[in-house]
Amino acid sequence: MRKKTRNKKIEDALKESETRYRRLFETAHDGILILDSEDGQVTDVNPFLINLLGFSKEEFLNKKLWELGAVKNLKAAKDTFKILQKDGYVRYEDLPLETKEGKFIDVEFVSNSYMAGGKLVIQCNVRDITERKRIDLIKESKRLLEEERSRVASIADTAHELRTPLAIIKGNVDLAMRSSTKNLKSPRSVLRSINHEINHLSSLLSDLTLITSKAWELKNRITYKQVDVRSLIATALKRCKVIAYDKNISITAKNIPKITILGDKMYLEKMLLNLIRNSIIYGNKNGRTIIEAKQSKGVLVIHITDNGIGISKDDLPHVFERFYRAEKYHNSGGNSIGLGLSIVKWVAELHGGEVSVKSIKDKGSVFSISLPIKSV
Ligand SMILES: Nc1ncnc2c1ncn2[C@@H]1O[C@H](COP(=O)(O)OP(=O)(O)OP(=O)(O)O)[C@@H](O)[C@H]1O
Ligand SMILES: [Mg+2]
Repeated sequence: MRKKTRNKKIEDALKESETRYRRLFETAHDGILILDSEDGQVTDVNPFLINLLGFSKEEFLNKKLWELGAVKNLKAAKDTFKILQKDGYVRYEDLPLETKEGKFIDVEFVSNSYMAGGKLVIQCNVRDITERKRIDLIKESKRLLEEERSRVASIADTAHELRTPLAIIKGNVDLAMRSSTKNLKSPRSVLRSINHEINHLSSLLSDLTLITSKAWELKNRITYKQVDVRSLIATALKRCKVIAYDKNISITAKNIPKITILGDKMYLEKMLLNLIRNSIIYGNKNGRTIIEAKQSKGVLVIHITDNGIGISKDDLPHVFERFYRAEKYHNSGGNSIGLGLSIVKWVAELHGGEVSVKSIKDKGSVFSISLPIKSV
């Protein structure tokens, strides 16, 4: 009697489990196909797969896997079945299946085998990956677009950098053509300056070639080395002096600590040049630019102070934006494009630092760069 009740209980449990499996099978949001492991015959198919491929249940049942209209590559399907028989597992990440209407649907196909009722059966799970592929495609297009944007931005940045050396060359030539000036440099030193800038231009042009070539990512090869802060500032200052002659703006460096920082010399020099050049372009005649530096708690802070035209409160939050120019009719002689400060910000951040500005309209501006001394 007891045995009978136990058997009944087992029977009930089995029934319940069968009902549960059936429900899962019927309502699954993946296609499921059950095959006889001996001959590859389809013994069951769930509604989702019937719906996905448009064949009726009868069209699936009692056919072999490779006889199904949805599977185009007969030989591949037969081979798959052989692998399944041997290994009990097969997986295809991206398989095209044909619907009854002749449309192709990309699916992920995973097959396992298991014992049921003393027989080995094969279960194939078919997942529609059309949506996933669509999202992947959108992501890939976005990535390509972003890459293209950043390439165009790099070209704009490099093109912008061509302007500083050209301005310095022009300054030198203008100076050399003056017949009487106290500050007149010797012809030899003018030529030396021009030569220096021409070398600089050539290296920028090779940067441009790099950007436009396939290996443009190499452009971002930044080399971090110990950079001597005093000589870095002295070089930038010397290069800018020549563009300050016309306005008779004095540029001086004060209290520069004798330290080195870890950074890329070329980019750091670009950063300083852009700031000093701005202080001259937006400076007043007979004005002054002062470069000061302070070291505290592992950070080097460089201030570039001018007594030029200053920046209005409305413009101030935007000056670091790419292509932003504070005023329509400003002192740059129509020669500015609004990239200099965005490059300054980029270089500072690349070094783990930041840049900020304080300015009062008609009084002057102070640009401050903080750079970590050791880490990048
Ligand atoms: N020292 C400064 N004094 C006053 N205004 C400044 C100063 N530096 C920058 N500005 C303002 O901020 C704007 C943005 O400067 P930024 O250097 O980015 O571009 P730009 O000088 O216009 O062009 P360029 O790309 O040639 O540098 C300038 O157009 C100018 O109006
Ligand atoms: Mg500028």
